[in-house]
Amino acid sequence: MILVVGGAGYIGSHLVKELVEKEDVVVLDNLSTGHREAIDKRAIFVRGDLGNEEDLQMVFRSYPIKAVMHFAAFSLVGESVVDPLKYYENNVASTLTLLKVMMKFKVKNFIFSSTAATYGIPDVELIDETTKTAPINPYGQSKLMVEQMLADFSKSYGLNYVVLRYFNAAGAHESAAIGESHDPETHLIPIILQQLLGTREKVSVFGSDYDTPDGTCIRDYIHVTDLAEAHILALEALLSEEKSAETYNLGNGLGFSVKEVIETCERVTGVKANVEMADRRSGDPARLVASSDKIFTELGWKAERRLERIIEDAWRWHQKQPY
Ligand SMILES: NC(=O)c1ccc[n+]([C@@H]2O[C@H](COP(=O)([O-])OP(=O)(O)OC[C@H]3O[C@@H](n4cnc5c(N)ncnc54)[C@H](O)[C@@H]3O)[C@@H](O)[C@H]2O)c1
Repeated sequence: MILVVGGAGYIGSHLVKELVEKEDVVVLDNLSTGHREAIDKRAIFVRGDLGNEEDLQMVFRSYPIKAVMHFAAFSLVGESVVDPLKYYENNVASTLTLLKVMMKFKVKNFIFSSTAATYGIPDVELIDETTKTAPINPYGQSKLMVEQMLADFSKSYGLNYVVLRYFNAAGAHESAAIGESHDPETHLIPIILQQLLGTREKVSVFGSDYDTPDGTCIRDYIHVTDLAEAHILALEALLSEEKSAETYNLGNGLGFSVKEVIETCERVTGVKANVEMADRRSGDPARLVASSDKIFTELGWKAERRLERIIEDAWRWHQKQPY
């Protein structure tokens, strides 16, 4: 049985939907930002908190857990600057509690949701796993701290782990049954689609004088189902003992500028966006694009779904959005 912590959230719920086809799944989530309706009915749901040792012990006592996939975290960069305590507490201290309980119950396989924010503002065209990590906010720092704990736990206690550093997750399940629903929403594609649906007044573009072909920032978008598939490959590699301590980037290697994303949304939906040009935000690098060659070479994974497909799926979800 696989424990998915944070399985009611955006990315976790997509992983659960794929994983229940192959494994028995128990989801632990406190629903702080997740949605009960997003959890596939074939999974067992336990409402509980990652930082609560008793909640965790109850789960490990009740189910024969062989691996843990950990999605639960707070992930608003701006909020992490205003309130770092909240981030270090939930993302680092609570994860330490989870690892402690895992060691107690001798569960040694772990997959961790990390982020491009661990790289900060790298000075390279394509970010690979050897690029220096230098987070510029407490959110990125909190994820890097967990990565460091995992390396130490691996050496000292034999923990097997895979760290997956996602770039920008986007899109929705092809059925449109689940999709992205954050409050507040800070991600570009849902913000554009909300504007096109009329639930948001305008789309602000922060900076149009970057050193990029059209002056707007370039980012790497990855379909949430591609992300889910990468997790399943990582899980298989851990369970077959093929891998024991690895870090992989997950992106599609193609950058798209903010303007290109807006234009693609307009083309896919046939609706014109109300766009406002605004000043740059501090801490926004011109370009953040991943090389995912390592996971392709080692596990055979690559992002299959391109930007149009991401937006088509997200658009169907946003039009119906049941939760
Ligand atoms: N969305 C992205 O583009 C992106 C990019 C890089 C990394 N990540 C990472 O991926 C993971 C999932 O992101 P998401 O967008 O699905 O976020 P989300 O907020 O939709 O999901 C997080 C889930 O964890 C749960 N949770 C949070 N704290 C908890 C706690 N203490 N106990 C139990 N449950 C708790 C929430 O209720 C929610 O269901 C996060 O770790 C995030 O940092 C996301």
